Formats: sequence, structure tokens, C-alpha cells
Amino acid sequence: MIDLTAPDFIDNPYPALKLLREKGAPQWHEQTGTFLAAGFKDASQVLRNRDLGRIFEENAPSSEWETFNWLHSDSILDSEPPKHSRLRSLVMKAFNPKKIESLRPDVERITKELLDEAVKKHNETGQFDLIGDYAEPLPVKVIAFLLGFPVADEHLLRPWSQSIVKMYEVSPSDTDRDEAKLASIQFASYVHELMLERKKNPGTDLISELAQVEEEGEKLNAHELIATCVLLLNAGHEASVNGFGNGMVATLQDAEQLAILNADPFGLADTAVDEFLRFDAPLHLFERTATKDTDIGGVEILEGQKIAALLGSANRDERVFKDPDKLDLSRNPNPHIGFGAGIHFCIGAPLARLEMAISLPRLIERFGSLKLAETPVRRQSFVLRGYEQVLVTNRP
Ligand code: HEM
Repeated sequence: MIDLTAPDFIDNPYPALKLLREKGAPQWHEQTGTFLAAGFKDASQVLRNRDLGRIFEENAPSSEWETFNWLHSDSILDSEPPKHSRLRSLVMKAFNPKKIESLRPDVERITKELLDEAVKKHNETGQFDLIGDYAEPLPVKVIAFLLGFPVADEHLLRPWSQSIVKMYEVSPSDTDRDEAKLASIQFASYVHELMLERKKNPGTDLISELAQVEEEGEKLNAHELIATCVLLLNAGHEASVNGFGNGMVATLQDAEQLAILNADPFGLADTAVDEFLRFDAPLHLFERTATKDTDIGGVEILEGQKIAALLGSANRDERVFKDPDKLDLSRNPNPHIGFGAGIHFCIGAPLARLEMAISLPRLIERFGSLKLAETPVRRQSFVLRGYEQVLVTNRP
């Protein structure tokens, strides 16, 4: 069975995932204690089947884990109806396509500011880091702006988020677990203070809006508000950073696709963004637990058993995508499930698409043809797949 933590697998998981799909039905996987649904149809069904729920398993109830636990069990992502529907409808207002489109000028402004800095660094050193200087700060700044998170403290977001999401990997170490507990406490208490401050001095941001709802009492309590804000701040950047980084590296390693992108970056932006997410997914594995016995792809999943949808594998399924192992930036249609499916479908999909469809062509417009300056450094994780550092240059 696949070792999801093996460096070779993390380096390139796609051949092993193909073999898994060829087995035809979801397979039991001892290492994760779940069935793995690797094919497109089965993975989509896992996300849509209402006898499978996102049930958060609390870490050993103790005062140390308390905050980490409620940050999850009171969040949209880790709850099920009716609580899920109530929390989701409260934030959907801020994430409807019209509202997101109105952020376009701000995304353009932030993109320009970051590119000015990247150009300066490139002029001085001959290279810049596509992740640290561009792909990462962009969604962090946008989501911070949307929620009204203070600019001076934006640098806290990525480290807190990374400490928390390490717990989603296959076998977090003791250090990872300690860091996740600490980051949860610090992050939650920061957002709590912010909520109190916005109750006194409301602004036009989402935290102020939610603080108002919490004040009115019926629809949202304080833990749910904090958990929702922490989730949005984390989910609002984590996958976007890696989706952009994975897609750009794949393009920089493919001379033909790079030439096509360089020739028409604005015309290709929308299809390229979806292909980035399909070709090398930033999020690979999402678990569900059976709330009653159910069937996925002919395999019976008994009440209490777990099954995971493998999104990155589903998006390479040869039964759905022509030449699935080929990067094709003009692929259309592209019915990938990189943003999930069913009731937990990604709330931030329109925002992520807007950010990437602006930042990708603007990058090419500024730098012309980029290339890798050094071998990119991959993070040693499968569930959240991405690069640590990607140094690039436009010099010969
Ligand atoms: C390329 C970027 C992104 C990708 C690939 C992505 C992917 C996903 C996926 C696959 C899910 C479903 C998880 C499941 O079914 O268990 C999800 C849920 C979610 N995403 Fe995203 N996401 C991205 C960006 C964003 C952004 C920018 C935001 C916020 C502003 C966001 C907020 C959320 C939230 C709140 C949920 C939970 C929805 C629910 O449970 O109803 N995501 N995302």
C-alpha cells in the first residue's frame, strides 16, 4: 500500500495514484485508517454522499487541546447541517460573485505593489522567490483586507496557519502537535480581541459585520465567530499560495506551455488557473465519516468508518480528462474537483480564481519570460502540496 509520507511519493505522487485508480474501487489504507477513493466518480461521490459527513475527531480532550478542538468543531468546514447551513449562509453574503468582483481594484493594487517590490529585488539580486515574494503575500493581504485584519500584523497569519494545518498531514510529529496547540490559542485570542475592538468601533470589514451578528445573539456565538474568522484567514490563503506555486513550476518546466502562456497571458488566464489546480493539486485528501452504512463504488462503508476523496488523483482520471498527465493551459472544459463538491464546496473559489487570474498575467506582463533560477524546494507534505521556495529570474 502507498506510503503517503515517503519522499519519493511526495516528490511525484501521480504514478502511484494512477496505480491506485487502476484497482477500480476504493481501497482500504492502513496508514490513514481510511478507504481511499482515487477515481473521479468515487471521489466526487464521497464529497456529495449525505451519509458521509465531515465529523471532527477531537484530540484527547484536555485543556491544552481545547482551543484547537473548538476552532474546528465550531467552524463551517468541520460542521454538518443544520449548524453548517447556518454558519455558511452568514458568510456567503461576503463571498457571492458580485461582492468578490468588487474586490478587483484592491486585488490589482496589491498585485502591483508586490510586483514593484519583486522587480526591485530582481534588479538587485537577479532573482526573486515566486512563493515568498509573490504567491504567498498576495492572498494573505487580500483575505486580511476583506476581514479587516490589521496590516501591521499580517505577518502573523502564515506562521499561525501553517502550524495549524500541519495537523492535517498523515503523521504530525510531537513538535507539530505542540505548535498547533500554541498557534490555535494565540490565533483565537488575537481574533477575540479584534472582535471586541470591532464591536466598539465597527468598520465595513467582515469581522465587524460578523461581530454585529454575534452581538444580536441568535445566529452566531463567540466561538463560532472566532472559528469562522480563523478558518477564512487560513483557508483564504493556504491553497491559493500552493495552487499558484505548483502551477507556475509545472509551466516553467514545460517549454511548450510556457511559450503559449508568455504569448497571451491575459487571454489564457482563466483556463490556466483551472489547469493549475487540476494538474498539480494544492489539496489532495479530504476525509469523511459514515453516519450510516453506505456504498461508494461498490464498497460498503460501515457506520463510523472513514473514507477519503483524493482530489489530485481524481483530477488526473483518464476516464474524465483527455491526456490527464499533460499540462494544457487552454484545457476547456475542465471539470476538476479541486474546489471540492457538494455542501462543503469551497466558499472562496470565486476569490481564489479572481486573485490568480489577475496575478498570473500581471506577473508575465512585468517580467516577460521567467525561468527557474534554482531547483524549486518542495514541502515534505502530501495533503497540502506545495513549494517552500521557487527562485526565478528573467535573465539569460
Ligand atoms: C486555490 C485555492 C483554493 C482551493 C484549491 C480550495 C479548495 C477547497 C476545497 C477542496 C474545499 C472543500 C473541502 C471539503 O469538502 O472537505 C474548500 C472548502 C472551503 N474553502 Fe477553499 N480553496 C481555495 C481557496 C479558498 C479561499 C480563497 C477561501 C476563503 C476566502 C476559502 C475558503 C473555504 C471555506 C470557508 C471552505 C469550507 C466550506 C464549507 O465547509 O462549507 N478557500 N476549499
